[in-house]
Amino acid sequence: MSDRPRPAAARWLPECTFEGQVALVTGGGTGLGLEMTRGLASLGAEVIVASRNPAHHGAILDEARERGWKIHAVELDVREPIAVERCAAELNERFGHVDLLINNAAGNFLCPAERLSSRAWRSVLGIVLDGTFYCSRYFGRSMIERGRGQILNIVATYAWTGMPGVVHSASAKAGVLAMTRTLATEWARFGIRVNAVAPGPFHSEGAAERLWPEPGMRERLESQVPLGRLASAEEVAGHCLYLLSPASEYITGECLVVDGGLSLGRNMWAPGESRRKPVVG
Ligand code: COA
Repeated sequence: MSDRPRPAAARWLPECTFEGQVALVTGGGTGLGLEMTRGLASLGAEVIVASRNPAHHGAILDEARERGWKIHAVELDVREPIAVERCAAELNERFGHVDLLINNAAGNFLCPAERLSSRAWRSVLGIVLDGTFYCSRYFGRSMIERGRGQILNIVATYAWTGMPGVVHSASAKAGVLAMTRTLATEWARFGIRVNAVAPGPFHSEGAAERLWPEPGMRERLESQVPLGRLASAEEVAGHCLYLLSPASEYITGECLVVDGGLSLGRNMWAPGESRRKPVVG
């Protein structure tokens, strides 16, 4: 067992917050998903990481062994409803229940809408929108039977602000946001909470490669954020854990924006400048 400090994402919650709970994190081996996995496991959850690419499992399984965390991995393409159904049946059989479903798997890249191919559109919609629904449906069924459970969906602020270059992802995330609110109203009576987190751009290798690939793009982006910096993946994961924890037990259908104020928009003047302008008339 390691004496390394708890992951940053877990620092705000009591140590046993998720003790006895089983969590499934799609795309849980990289980026934000990885930080949620680490945070949940360090707070006592048994976590199953589901990824399309098993190469994403090795590092977290090694860390789990070293730290004494209960983490397992399954290969899953969330676009395939039959595979998701089978996975839900197997995990329910093996663990008895899955209490927390985190729909985090995503696909994204910048591409002008007029150049986006049908396959590219289908691929991102398939992962983000279809995958979130298939996982919610199959894992939701057993949550309904148990009369408890939680679903957390990762969306993005551009689902409602729009942003050039991400018509596929923005359209899919907008659908997931609608799904979050709809399932929250349908399934509250079964003791299931459904929430979403909408991170602004946060630092991760995947995001850096896909969303700010050129020199200077990250700095330009940071200069637009009212809080003056990008978040880290650990920091965003910390807010996700809050929404999964009993600290938020009266919250459902909510979308927590974690973007340093970026989506609030820019006004006519930069901060401070408006105070210097004399008011005329
Ligand atoms: N720009 C334009 N089109 C792209 C593209 C890019 N950067 N990346 C993929 N596509 C297109 C492909 O060209 C293909 O369309 P085509 O056959 O008409 O040319 C289509 O998308 C499917 O690509 P393919 O690689 O076969 O599909 P896939 O389903 O295996 O993977 C992604 C597509 C988007 C999921 C892939 O980029 C991926 O796995 N990304 C990692 C996860 C991720 O993006 N996370 C988000 C981090 S912010």
